[in-house]
Amino acid sequence: MTDRGRLGILISGTGSNMQALVQACERGEIPADVRFVGSDNPAAPGLSWAQQHGLDTFVVDYKALARRDWREIDLSRIPSCSLGDALHYKPHRLFAELLLGDEIEQRGCDLLCLAGFMRLLTPFFVRRISPNQDQPCIMNIHPSLLPAFPGIDGYGDTYRYGCRVAGCTIHFVDSGLDSGPIIGQRSFDVDPVDGLEEIKRKGLLLEHQLYSECVRLFFARRLAIRLLTQLDGMVRRTVQVLVDSEI
Ligand code: GRF
Repeated sequence: MTDRGRLGILISGTGSNMQALVQACERGEIPADVRFVGSDNPAAPGLSWAQQHGLDTFVVDYKALARRDWREIDLSRIPSCSLGDALHYKPHRLFAELLLGDEIEQRGCDLLCLAGFMRLLTPFFVRRISPNQDQPCIMNIHPSLLPAFPGIDGYGDTYRYGCRVAGCTIHFVDSGLDSGPIIGQRSFDVDPVDGLEEIKRKGLLLEHQLYSECVRLFFARRLAIRLLTQLDGMVRRTVQVLVDSEI
């Protein structure tokens, strides 16, 4: 990593978290420059904002790749992916991720932030971008207090479950569903009169602060991975992310 970090951001929609990260970099709160904003959705409103802001943008349109056949994929470009492995995934996902990886590598980044990027990543893509398990470099924001309510509608699930506390989580990304090591969480009380829109509004405000804070800690090299249990037989490798004052 150079003195000034290189941040890449992927979005699918509004991009308010992306905007918060861009502005935190511009204010000098995050010691990094935003190298690119990529999207799987050509109509994402956040893309126009990024373009108007003079940022380098690109699109890998997953939907347009939906008819690709796995036989069109050059498997030799996906390390440790056998034909059997490939058949577990929809071909357009593998195809899209190859393009996504190429776009990202051409531009280069030290940290890739998923900011409302509504796609699951395969282990092949995660290993390509973030090859070292002890120094993960893909982050995600999720709108619930994980491990509660993974999936696409964290605030909706929190609301419908009748939770009295809601929140958001920043975590490093693995190939599971919102399952990577947790970096930070913020919570807030749910007032019984709060509807779903109010929960989302309160949550998004906290998301913007928390994401910037976690990215700042990353670029200040203040995050470390501590191994809790080792991959051994049936035991999953679990880790904890520590901020330097806890190391
Ligand atoms: C946020 O609630 C984020 O937690 C979730 O998707 C939403 C994206 O919002 N993953 P935005 O596009 O950043 O405004």
